[in-house]
Amino acid sequence: MTTLPAVELTVYPYECDAAGHLNEASFLTVFERARWDALARGPGMDIFRRHGVWPAVRRATVDYRAAVYPGDVLRIETQVLARGTTSLTLRQTATRPADDTLVAEAEIVFVMTDRVGRPAPMSDELAQLFGPRTGSAARELQRVSVPGVELAVDVRGDGLPVLFVHGFPLDRTMWRHQIAGLSRCRRIAPDLRGAGASSVPADGYAIAHYADDLVALLDALGVRQAVACGLSMGGYIVLELVRRHADRLKAVVLADTKAEADSPEARRGRDELASVAARDGAGAVADRLLPRLLSPATHAAQPEVVRQVREMIERQPVPGIVGALAALRDRPDSTPTLGAVRVPTLVLVGGDDAITPPATAAAMAAGITGAQYVVIPAAGHLAPLEQPLAVARALGDFVGSLG
Ligand code: MLT
Repeated sequence: MTTLPAVELTVYPYECDAAGHLNEASFLTVFERARWDALARGPGMDIFRRHGVWPAVRRATVDYRAAVYPGDVLRIETQVLARGTTSLTLRQTATRPADDTLVAEAEIVFVMTDRVGRPAPMSDELAQLFGPRTGSAARELQRVSVPGVELAVDVRGDGLPVLFVHGFPLDRTMWRHQIAGLSRCRRIAPDLRGAGASSVPADGYAIAHYADDLVALLDALGVRQAVACGLSMGGYIVLELVRRHADRLKAVVLADTKAEADSPEARRGRDELASVAARDGAGAVADRLLPRLLSPATHAAQPEVVRQVREMIERQPVPGIVGALAALRDRPDSTPTLGAVRVPTLVLVGGDDAITPPATAAAMAAGITGAQYVVIPAAGHLAPLEQPLAVARALGDFVGSLG
């Protein structure tokens, strides 16, 4: 992965708030100072002007982890997470060498713009500086063979293994912010069989098979126990892991999911949607599902997220969608499983989740001894994409508490 030179900066009093510590807004400034310093030490701060482009920030998230005070020295490291023709995603971390504390991390997406604000391709010098083109998320992808299927899996970092299990009809990239952000963990994010870049077998679509695939994947990666973090259908699969592979679980995160099986009417809906998918393709499935997957706030204010989710659904293979619908339709009731969860559990739900609403999630949390329950405001069914910072914080706190 391409990195820019690390930079050490001293925190100035004027950057701190009334309580004396560096706040989240100031962190953006500190991260920006570090980027310019890194450029000044390398190709020069005028590199963009030389090439007639300007790096406009399209999105920035800062995950603030520890207080920082005037006079603290921070070490800022900058990595290129992704590079496209016109865009660039950087990840920056700030650690305090004095006590080896990670104090904040940021993910910042830039688009190169010309003088009138139109996206502009990077020059050769810029492309060389930021490393080879990555595509959006293909960077750390491995292919792992497990019985009956080859799974694509994004594996990053070291530390406590966290297994991210995506929902329907999505793929591992729905966890992109958490994969990028949970830096002290080994993040393992597979595409389930029939989804994303995994192979698309003709059969074997059942919640139990998805769960067995994941256990075989952990075996192949040499992971004995992981924190299993599943969203919606991913949560149904995590509850299957509780039923049949509990010894592989260090802890459980159930995000925007529920324990109940489908009602007869919901089962009929699955079959009907499978016919739509087979007849009209994944785009028609996106048309059906998008309105309820995201919160009204996301639809109104985050067109970029709406677009990402639509594209994610549209690239799913139809046989995988049809297979997943059968698995969803036939899944067992996991309500009796809740009492069997013996590991630390976080139940997380978007405050505006229309598919698995907070009341359902709260009831599920109440059924699990000692479960923590967190509502993510201004998020719908896909809280990790809609409010990545709040989800990263809830997840980071939970994982950090596991010891
Ligand atoms: C999901 O996000 O995985 C689906 O909403 C699950 C479901 O339809 O039950």
